Amino acid sequence: MTVTTASAPGKIILFGEHAVVYGHPALAVPVHEVQATCRIEPLPAGAGVVIAAPDINFAAPLSAAPEDNPLAAAVRHTLAACPPTLPINARITVTADIPVARGLGSGAAIATAVVKALGQYVGRALPPQQIADIVFAVEKIHHGTPSGIDNTVIAFGQPVFFQKGRPLQRLAVGRPLTLVIGDTGIKSQTRKVVGNLRRRRDADKPRYDGWFQLMGRLAPAARQAIEAGQVARIADYMAQNHALLQQIGVSSDELDRLVRAALEAGALGAKLSGAGRGGNMIALVEDNRAFEVTQALQRAGAAQTIVTTVGSSAKK
Ligand code: MEV
Repeated sequence: MTVTTASAPGKIILFGEHAVVYGHPALAVPVHEVQATCRIEPLPAGAGVVIAAPDINFAAPLSAAPEDNPLAAAVRHTLAACPPTLPINARITVTADIPVARGLGSGAAIATAVVKALGQYVGRALPPQQIADIVFAVEKIHHGTPSGIDNTVIAFGQPVFFQKGRPLQRLAVGRPLTLVIGDTGIKSQTRKVVGNLRRRRDADKPRYDGWFQLMGRLAPAARQAIEAGQVARIADYMAQNHALLQQIGVSSDELDRLVRAALEAGALGAKLSGAGRGGNMIALVEDNRAFEVTQALQRAGAAQTIVTTVGSSAKK
């Protein structure tokens, strides 16, 4: 066995977050500027498997890690899917520069890096769909009822048009899109935000399902605009999507402030991205406005900003 490493990107949702949980389509893209990495190195015979996450000062033998530890679950699910011929003795170390609980898919990216690296380590390079399925099982431990979009876009590492229960469709990007991601610095707990929204929706189904339907219609329209490279149309759909996300109660003052600041600084369109109530917003900009919009977001209180380019072959 030789040392093996694998990485996975972060992600952002372009259109359709939350509505995707209720079966509507959504668009997501990988963010290759931030990454989770897994390194696996052999240990002497009898050492067993040790998992380590030095970023959070965690290290434990796999045998002692609790069932609901996502790192251990990723390892156990992968070993069950591709059992090694001999017992493994290895140290599995994960590191990531993806901000945690900000809607950038840090948990799914870490699990993806582990599944990918471990598959390779035991001699089975797993296909993206199988990686996505294993990561979905891990995501369910802490996210309750995930739609499956995060694990899918991260495992495939490509822009996707995603709908629950339907075969994955790739999202072609007609003209590269420059996005500035602005982090409110506030944790966005997907499980909590999705759970609270479900309670509000169950109390008033017609209204909420109507809003989800409108979001669901925006995703295919936005897909067409993205494929055709029509940025003004994309920007308009972002405004509509953000307004709907405000209606369903998942925006926040901080997110709205960053969205306004980006638009005032010349962004074409802006919206929150991910679960909301914190986490990140995204702004679509002309290349030559990325700097001004970044500065405006920082002045408006963004804890962190990332500039990313979305394109079919934007992989870095
Ligand atoms: C989280 O990235 C996106 C949500 O739609 C939740 C999900 O799809 O599981 C809010």
